[in-house]
Amino acid sequence: MSKYILPVSVFGTVFGCAVLLKNHVTGGRCPSKATINGKTVVITGANTGIGKETAKELAKRGGRVIMGCRDMEKCEAAAKEIRGKTLNPHVYARHLDLASVKSVREFAGRIKREEQRVDVLINNAGVMRCPEGKTEDGFDMQLGVNHLGHFLLTNLLLDELKKSAPSRVINLASLAHIVGKIDFEDLNWEKKKFDTKQAYCQSKLANVLFTRELAKRLQGSGVTVNAVHPGVVATELGRHTGMHQSQFSSSVLSPFFSLLVKNSELGAQPSVYLAVSEEMEAVTGRYYDVMTEKEPAPQALDEEAARRLWEVSSRLVGLEEEGQSSTSNPPAEAQNKAAQRDPALTVGQNPQPAVRTEGL
Ligand SMILES: NC(=O)c1ccc[n+]([C@@H]2O[C@H](COP(=O)([O-])OP(=O)(O)OC[C@H]3O[C@@H](n4cnc5c(N)ncnc54)[C@H](OP(=O)(O)O)[C@@H]3O)[C@@H](O)[C@H]2O)c1
Repeated sequence: MSKYILPVSVFGTVFGCAVLLKNHVTGGRCPSKATINGKTVVITGANTGIGKETAKELAKRGGRVIMGCRDMEKCEAAAKEIRGKTLNPHVYARHLDLASVKSVREFAGRIKREEQRVDVLINNAGVMRCPEGKTEDGFDMQLGVNHLGHFLLTNLLLDELKKSAPSRVINLASLAHIVGKIDFEDLNWEKKKFDTKQAYCQSKLANVLFTRELAKRLQGSGVTVNAVHPGVVATELGRHTGMHQSQFSSSVLSPFFSLLVKNSELGAQPSVYLAVSEEMEAVTGRYYDVMTEKEPAPQALDEEAARRLWEVSSRLVGLEEEGQSSTSNPPAEAQNKAAQRDPALTVGQNPQPAVRTEGL
């Protein structure tokens, strides 16, 4: 019996210290106490995880919060909960499916019609390592939701952001971008064997490249844009990974894992910091690891790749052909014409119907 005492106590001490130090090591809370009364925040994927906690914190700080979610039942329930907990009645649930260009355009159109201003846009929604699948428009699901949907939404709301300047765009990227590679020859996994990890990393690298190119294009406009890795946060993001799917890991390993990683409330602090803090007002084009500015991976600093990704993305979502203020669907022939100019624009000849990934 005594031979187990030492290893067990060492494990217990290390584990206990890790749990106690977790908040400190993982970045802590947003130091700014700034309030945002009179400001409007649009946040995607706000019914759960980091997005929901970010929406709650910004509502607490007095913002008018528009939550864009694909599942209206979950969205209404989260909005109601946030209104109740913060006593801020100005929290609204709106339909947004980032896996559909049509839905993104409808959402943006409604914001433009109904809102006087957009002070903060938080591109938060994301899917990670989901099974191979295509969006309604035939894009790889992870590229489509994590990058292309947000790329289109941001562009459609640019006039509102500019009118409301100083205003901010925040893109939830990930440390995973460091192993990402943009395959301009096959962005949508039409030619090579599908690799869901690499598809996620590609989409998160796209978030950082998009941030840098947008910041360049918005210079002098009063609209800033930054990317952030929120840290490792216990959310539903891993729903498609082994951890959530195996009985052993979800019942035995997962409780240990969640003791060591941040909860969603702490996970929201970096987004809140970028959205409200005074010292971030003029900062743009940067990458934040939690609340500390870091240099992103070398491939995220490639200006030519950022420019090319912008052009390809514009054409894929139909912005280039129609002009940014249009709210109609991207014409299929626009995508086909564009594909003749750049192989990166190839989308499935027979786009599969949209794949809803929740609960799979
Ligand atoms: N958690 C982490 O450790 C971590 C680390 C690095 C980066 N991130 C990034 O942080 C962001 C938030 O992730 P999270 O951890 O909070 O994940 P989460 O708990 O899974 O929340 C993701 C949100 O995105 C929504 N979403 C997914 N597909 C959508 C679509 N087609 N249209 C609209 N909304 C959609 C989800 O809606 P449903 O509930 O309907 O599915 C959900 O509200 C993501 O961009 C993620 O890449 C997270």
